[in-house]
Amino acid sequence: MSNITPAEHLAEVLSRFDDAPDARLGEIMKSAIRHMHEFVVEVGLTREEWFAGMEGLAAIGRMCDDKRQEFILLSDTLGVSMLVEMINHLAAEGTTEPTVFGPFHVDGAPRLAMGDSIIVDPMDDDEPLTVRGQVTSLGGVPIEGAELDVWQAASNGFYDVQDDAQTPLNMRGIFTTGADGRYEVSTVRPVSYPVPDDGPAGALLHATGRHNWRPAHVHFVVSAPGYKTVITHLFDRDSDFLDSDVVFGVRDSLIVDMNDGRCDYDFVLEPTV
Ligand code: BEZ
Ligand code: FE
Repeated sequence: MSNITPAEHLAEVLSRFDDAPDARLGEIMKSAIRHMHEFVVEVGLTREEWFAGMEGLAAIGRMCDDKRQEFILLSDTLGVSMLVEMINHLAAEGTTEPTVFGPFHVDGAPRLAMGDSIIVDPMDDDEPLTVRGQVTSLGGVPIEGAELDVWQAASNGFYDVQDDAQTPLNMRGIFTTGADGRYEVSTVRPVSYPVPDDGPAGALLHATGRHNWRPAHVHFVVSAPGYKTVITHLFDRDSDFLDSDVVFGVRDSLIVDMNDGRCDYDFVLEPTV
């Protein structure tokens, strides 16, 4: 084993995965290892830097629990979550584009009637907003029974799950369309907000000269029997950070006007067959 080159070392490591019983796991591990070895060689990683990296990953693990998912935040801020969305859920031409899910969705939001408000805890800075439109299939046919799971940060920039002062399920609701496919949500104009930076993912952002802000948005999961579910946001055209979203989630087709207390947007779903 003396005088072995990095390339020979890589080949030896990869060969140990040749007989992985789960072929897909073997493929994934080999590719990840190849890229890791190439990265170490490319940057000439020092022993101290490698230990610092492992220490950082351990710190991220220690920060994860049922309320805080620091690994997801790292994946989001490195653009990996959005890349996985991009390669797995390529939107068919004319359908609503997907974007990141994010860590702040909560199951069990209340089922509300069309036009109802998702505001439980009104705030002084609230700017009323009605979001409305239609859920249709590609040909513009209204979809009856489409479900819209809606959530957003309150006007103070925090989700209910981040803020003990808010009532659980504040700014959340599930709406179901009738025969006309129309939906209407009464809410407040969303604000831009910073993703948590009190952990290692935030420390990495700041150490590399990046900010931790997301542009103002409302989250939607729109689903209907016989159609592909779309996980997406609507972004306020007047918001800051549209060009530098910390999690790379902005798509031009999802930027809408939220002036004058209203926002109109039609969700177009792709049939599953
Ligand atoms: C969000 O929009 O809720 C979100 C997405 C990714 C990371 C942090 C927050
Ligand atoms: Fe959000």
